[in-house]
Amino acid sequence: MSRISLKVDGVRYDDDVDPRTLLVHHLREHLGKVGTVVGCDTTNCGACTVLMGGKSVKSCTVLAAQADGQEIETVEGLAGKDGSLHPVQQAFHDSHALQCGYCTPGMIMAAVDLLAENPEPTDDEVREGLEGNLCRCTGYQNIVRAVQDAAAVMRAEVPAPRDAGTEPMEGTRGTTSPAAEEVAR
Ligand code: FES
Ligand code: FES
Repeated sequence: MSRISLKVDGVRYDDDVDPRTLLVHHLREHLGKVGTVVGCDTTNCGACTVLMGGKSVKSCTVLAAQADGQEIETVEGLAGKDGSLHPVQQAFHDSHALQCGYCTPGMIMAAVDLLAENPEPTDDEVREGLEGNLCRCTGYQNIVRAVQDAAAVMRAEVPAPRDAGTEPMEGTRGTTSPAAEEVAR
């Protein structure tokens, strides 16, 4: 077993893990972060995407032991302490950018990273930035629109469409929000 320390959604966890345990399984099975989902387990779908050190990674491509000392943010950490959704979450909700929702946690985390890197992407850049995240339901049109809507809100070009208190989407409710607080500053 390896002793690892992770900060996940603002909370520190110290655990003994099997060296073969993937980060996604550690998050879900040991830390209860089931908002991060497994679509393939073979690095193809992106459903397991989280932020590690502020950059999006597919958490099935990383061993938990390799993440020792890292700060991880999952979709469960995006919403504000008051329950207000992160602009990307809100835009996915408002633009109907999901159907079954299985890809959504990873898609949202990849979009958060994309907009941190490029606050004003073209549609093609959105598609390119999310190319590692597969959706079998939506046809991607509404996802691209949602990311563009969120980008506009985050650039403060348009007001957030809803105030705090919007009911979070299933599977995206969070308790802490470093990213949302960053947006609010
Ligand atoms: Fe990680 Fe599919 S579960 S890429
Ligand atoms: Fe079903 Fe994307 S909404 S896979």
